[in-house]
Amino acid sequence: MSSYDLIVIGAGPGGYVCAIRAAQLGLKVACVEGRETLGGTCLNVGCIPSKALLHASHMYHEAETNFTKMGLMGDGPSVDWTIMQSYKAETVETNTKGVEFLFKKNKIDWIKGWAEIQGPGKIKVGDDVHETKNIVIATGSEPSPLKGVEVENEAGVIVDSTGALTLPGVPKSMVVIGAGVIGLELGSVYARLGAEVTVIEYLDAITPGMDADIQKQFQKTLTKQGMKFVLGAAVQSATAKNGQATVKYKLRKDDSEQEVTADVVLLATGRRPYVAGLGLDKVGVEMTDRGQVKIDNHWATNVKGIYAIGDAVPGPMLAHKAEDEGMAVAEVIAGKAGHVNYNVIPGVIYTTPEVANVGLTEAAAKESGRKVKIGKFPFLGNARAKAMFQGDGFVKIVTDADTDRVLGCHIIGPNAGEMIHEVCVAMEFGASAEDIALTCHAHPTTSEAVREAALAAGSGAIHV
Ligand code: NAI
Repeated sequence: MSSYDLIVIGAGPGGYVCAIRAAQLGLKVACVEGRETLGGTCLNVGCIPSKALLHASHMYHEAETNFTKMGLMGDGPSVDWTIMQSYKAETVETNTKGVEFLFKKNKIDWIKGWAEIQGPGKIKVGDDVHETKNIVIATGSEPSPLKGVEVENEAGVIVDSTGALTLPGVPKSMVVIGAGVIGLELGSVYARLGAEVTVIEYLDAITPGMDADIQKQFQKTLTKQGMKFVLGAAVQSATAKNGQATVKYKLRKDDSEQEVTADVVLLATGRRPYVAGLGLDKVGVEMTDRGQVKIDNHWATNVKGIYAIGDAVPGPMLAHKAEDEGMAVAEVIAGKAGHVNYNVIPGVIYTTPEVANVGLTEAAAKESGRKVKIGKFPFLGNARAKAMFQGDGFVKIVTDADTDRVLGCHIIGPNAGEMIHEVCVAMEFGASAEDIALTCHAHPTTSEAVREAALAAGSGAIHV
């Protein structure tokens, strides 16, 4: 039996960052992880492998659609799926090994296996019981099931996000259930590699919760890239037979029943906290009615010495939100003032073009009772974007009309996922749109579009 100041359960972005920060603050730390490699869903079967496939398929698409326009001639590339899968695996391995290195460097013990909390300060892994002053639950999430849809990742016909990363090949046709982040990222990977992709979405718009202007532009762009959308449709079932799947759905407008067949069906209708086998009920940890671990403002559960962060608790299911909570809770446990500003958490969809947002949408800002001003700038007026054939899209800044304070920003366009951070920093400092507009931006960069949107919220943009 070994004894620690802190045992973190789960080595995803929330858990491993928490463990590293706690060790840096002088605590004796262990992290329990049952997977063969560290990094959790994000590094093993989420953000990182999907980004490898997004990058590879983007390159392929560029070669196919834009190379000859730039005078880059010759026979186009073809897809070798086996090599693309190895590239993805290597990308994952360098990152998971990187976390292992950081654990060693920070003297964090990796307890291999699945943890069961036996009581405050007692964690059982296999036959061993470990003692600790504090526990952080960072066990993440798993794909939510949908009634009538039987996922079998190994068979490769009806899959979830994990199975979609290791399909036996590029399918001819694919149906994606759910037009959220996962469905659109992985759907666009396969669309770019040549699959006919149809996305079926329950709501009347894609990417629920996003700014309405972005939703419209994003759907238009993906449609131009060949993806098909069936909106306002509730999927009832998906069944596999002889290597093909049939999806049945009901159109909400008239209740009519429709069906579509495809080589692969990707179920992407959300994720749910993963807390199975942790023994939370036995220890008496309170849960929300949505199955999340209930916490207070300092990530503490109702049981003394047990904290929880990341996808297992309420809030957006995002790796970077979990990382921030991981750092903050480590600081709280070490007697410092950990803090997360939940008003400034960016969201990024890594399609091409990228979609990024932070803060309030126009609709949410208006609902909050404020007088709202919008500054919008199209990438058509941005020289750098046009040189990259990415003139579609725009930057939209939402400000408080009375104070000019930036309330939110929504970008669809090249490098959106990088550009959003300028606005995040501005919001952290309580900046006005004028502050951004008065900041010199290098030319030619796509970031100039952010400045132009800020100018548009005030005295007017230049390049429109
Ligand atoms: P999501 O919640 O983003 O989207 C699910 C969609 O499925 C919704 O639009 C919903 O209306 C629809 N839906 C639900 N039931 C349906 C039915 N019966 N028929 C048709 N449509 C139905 O969930 P998603 O995409 O699975 O992502 C899960 C989580 O993972 C999200 O919180 C997301 O933010 C996170 N994630 C974030 C990434 C990023 O930041 N780039 C990448 C991957 C995941």
